[in-house]
Amino acid sequence: MSLPIRPAVQASPDYPFSAIEAPVKLDQNESFADFPAELKAIALERLRELPWHRYTDLHAEALCDAVARHDGWAASGTVVTTGSNVLIALLVQLAGMGARVLTVKPNFALYGLDARLLGAALTEVPLHTNLGTDVDALIAALDEAPARGVVFVARPHAPTGSLCGLDDLERLARACQDGWLLVIDEAYHHFTAHDARELARRHPHVVLLRTFSKAWGLAGLRLGYALAGDEVARQLRKLVPPFGVSVLQTVCALVALERPGYLRERVAHTLRERERVFQVLQTHPTWQVMPSHANFLLVRTPDAAQAHAALLAQGVLVRRQDRLHGLEGCLRMTIGTAAENDTFLRTAGLSP
Ligand SMILES: Cc1ncc(COP(=O)(O)O)c(C=O)c1O
Repeated sequence: MSLPIRPAVQASPDYPFSAIEAPVKLDQNESFADFPAELKAIALERLRELPWHRYTDLHAEALCDAVARHDGWAASGTVVTTGSNVLIALLVQLAGMGARVLTVKPNFALYGLDARLLGAALTEVPLHTNLGTDVDALIAALDEAPARGVVFVARPHAPTGSLCGLDDLERLARACQDGWLLVIDEAYHHFTAHDARELARRHPHVVLLRTFSKAWGLAGLRLGYALAGDEVARQLRKLVPPFGVSVLQTVCALVALERPGYLRERVAHTLRERERVFQVLQTHPTWQVMPSHANFLLVRTPDAAQAHAALLAQGVLVRRQDRLHGLEGCLRMTIGTAAENDTFLRTAGLSP
């Protein structure tokens, strides 16, 4: 008997992740600290009062309003779902199915995985040798048939931490005007000086993707959103499962958005620690650390398997990236607490 499963799904690999337990967990680019206890308490108290037997808003309207106010965007152009990874699939459904998904290589795995699963032609343009996004190569690839679909650019880029310049993005946005949706994935935008909202405001075919999973410290809550022009948002909402955002997700995110002070403090910590760890890693005799605009650092080692195992043996978990195109020998470490970063550095043979 053969199961009626589409060949594209059968041929697709599993998501490239295996969970490993370790005391110092620096492998998933999460926040170094949990959602503040006092905010958890407020959220839990509110949850106690709210009815759980009722459906939530059709499209999380109250949460969209609060997100939009916080981010200085129109609520009519804001679409919230259960994680930005859901939005990546929905954006491929919106404009990539039967057309093309164009992105860089290596990149956050889901753009390519979703393209293959959903039957989009996939073009992946290699990064520059300095690990930056090659916008000229992306623009040249827009002409390949089918010459329409979705372009994904992560800014900052994952897993390198490099940052595509806003001038380059503007050129790309202009080149995408006919037939392409340009998705700028800003999962790590809090850790950079300038985001791409101004550019997105000027171009109705540009969509920004954001998440509560990184700087907000709410990866376990599963919430992400798109900031788009009104028409793209209206069409995208048709693909979002109705009543998909739960009462738990809504309440916790509303509490966070009402008291965002902790976010600024944490981002400041991460930026300080990123610079400190970067400086110390530069003194490593054989490792090479890349400058980063995100909450993680990419390090090239002579032997990633050996370095990963040696760190893990001392309780420090980082992510291997050495099987990705152009990232031979590379490991990625999330910036943790000062103590976690010290443990990482000592285990790597360095004095913090
Ligand atoms: C570039 C990028 N986009 C999106 C995501 C997914 O975010 P979410 O937790 O909102 O699904 C990640 C997660 O690591 C990421 O690195």
